Amino acid sequence: MAVKSNILIFVYLFLFLGSVSAQDNTLSKQRVTELNNLLVQDCGSCHGMTMKGGLGPALTPEVLKNKPREFIETTIAYGRPGTPMPPWNNILTRQEINWIVNTLYNGIKHD
Ligand code: HEC
Repeated sequence: MAVKSNILIFVYLFLFLGSVSAQDNTLSKQRVTELNNLLVQDCGSCHGMTMKGGLGPALTPEVLKNKPREFIETTIAYGRPGTPMPPWNNILTRQEINWIVNTLYNGIKHD
């Protein structure tokens, strides 16, 4: 009996920890909307609303596919000193930058 309830406690603990970490890895729907707006409005003001380039270079899947993820993420996090590309790590988490890079690699969706 005692052994059985100990096992149950472990199972509950496992499920609980699993749900906590799952939450940590998922951006809220609201945050995803905000990030989509940021991409089109802020990044788009320099890279073009459809990411085909402007003051900054094009960020389309074709252009990015041969560039390493680490390179793209570092550019977004720290910017490019000496160029107009600003750093974003003061307003975006690593996870959010990761989401942006995934979105750029896949191509941004238009409504
Ligand atoms: C004020 C203008 C400006 C804004 C806003 C801006 N960028 Fe840039 N970005 C640039 C410029 C200019 C470069 C090219 C820098 C260089 O000459 O190396 C660049 C470079 C980049 C690169 C590297 C591209 C490559 O092929 O090497 C990435 C990725 C990038 N920007 C992503 C973003 C994202 C994501 C945002 C929004 C969160 C953003 N940028 C906002 C101007 C901007």
